[in-house]
Amino acid sequence: MVNEFLGNPNFNISAQTVSASCPSNIALIKYWGKYESQIPANPSISYTLNHCRTNTALEFVADEKFSVQTFLGGNEEKKFAEKIEKYFKDIEPFLPWILKGRYVIKTENTFPHSSGIASSASGFGAIAKCLMNLDEEFSGKLEKDFTLKKASFLARLGSGSACRSLYGGLVVWGETQEVPGSSDLFAVPYPTDEIHSVFKNFNDWVLLIHEGEKSVSSTVGHGLMKTNPYAERRFQEAHENFFSLREILKTGEISRFIRLVEHEALTLHAMMMMSEPAFILMKTGTLDVIHKIWNFRKETRLNLFFTLDAGANVHLLFPENSDADKIREFIVKELLQHTQNGGVVKDEMRF
Ligand code: PMV
Repeated sequence: MVNEFLGNPNFNISAQTVSASCPSNIALIKYWGKYESQIPANPSISYTLNHCRTNTALEFVADEKFSVQTFLGGNEEKKFAEKIEKYFKDIEPFLPWILKGRYVIKTENTFPHSSGIASSASGFGAIAKCLMNLDEEFSGKLEKDFTLKKASFLARLGSGSACRSLYGGLVVWGETQEVPGSSDLFAVPYPTDEIHSVFKNFNDWVLLIHEGEKSVSSTVGHGLMKTNPYAERRFQEAHENFFSLREILKTGEISRFIRLVEHEALTLHAMMMMSEPAFILMKTGTLDVIHKIWNFRKETRLNLFFTLDAGANVHLLFPENSDADKIREFIVKELLQHTQNGGVVKDEMRF
C-alpha cells in the first residue's frame, strides 16, 4: 500500500520558499516499540496540543549538489541538518525531486528549547507539510485530503509519533479494528462525533521536572522493546485498551478514562525498567508529583490526572469546567515546587 504514496516522476523544479506550522501531541495510548520502516508495534492515540508548535520556513534552490542547512531559533544546528539529509534520502521514492537542490530550513518552537518537550513530532510534522507544499509546486496539485495523508505518511518516516500531529483533536496511528480506516502507515483523526463533549475541552499543563537532554533517546528505547520479555503482552494490551477507550470516549466516563491514561503512562515507564539494559527516565520530582496527584484526587474527588512522555516531565491533564480553577490553584501551590526552574507550559486541547 506504500505504492499510493510513490512520487510523480514528472516534475518541474524552481526556487521556492514555503512555510508551515505544526503542533505537538501527547499520547494517551502509547506507541513504544516498532518494526522495520517505522511500522508501530501497536496502535496509539494522542491529543494534538493547541499551543506547543513548530513554525518552519524552508527555502529550496535547484542545484545538482544536494545539501541541507538548518537553523533552530536563529542558531545553526549541524546535527539536525545531518538527520534531515538522511531523512530526505530515505523519502526520495515518494518525492523524486527531493535530492535535486539546496535547502535552508529555519525552525522555531513556541515552547522553550531546553524544556525537554519533544519537538520531533511538531518538527517533522512541519517539515512534511513544507515538503508537500513544494511537491504541489513541482508536480501539480493533489486532492486536499490526500495531501494531508501523504504529509502524515512522510512525517512518520521522520519520527513515528509526528504522523499524528497533522490532524487536530484525537488522532490514531496504527491499525486497530476499533477505528475503521486506521493504518500503520499514517494517522487518521478519531471521529469527533464519537467523542463525548467532556473530552473536547481539556487542559494539559506540562510540568518541566527535568530540562535538557534525556539519558536514553526514544530511538534506543523503541529498539529495546525487541528483546523485552513483556513486549508481546504490552502490544496486546494496547489493542485491548483501544477497545475500552472507544467506549469511554463515547460515554464520557472520566474516572475510567483517568485509570486507563495513567495506566498507559506507567506501563510505558515500566517497559523501560524491564528493558535490558534497564533505564529510568522518571526523576524524584516525577514520583513526588504523581503521589501528590493521587492524594489530591482521593481528598477532593477532582479530576486531575497525569500522563508521561518518554521523559521526566509530567503532563497534568484536567477537563475545563467549574472545578478547573481549584485544580490550577493546587498545581501552582503544590506541584510547581517539584519543577527544576519553576517551569510549566500551559497548553490545552479544545475542539
Ligand atoms: O515518535 P518517537 O519515536 O519520538 O516516539 C514517541 C514515543 C512516545 O512519545 C513515548 C509515545 C507516543 O506515542 O508518542
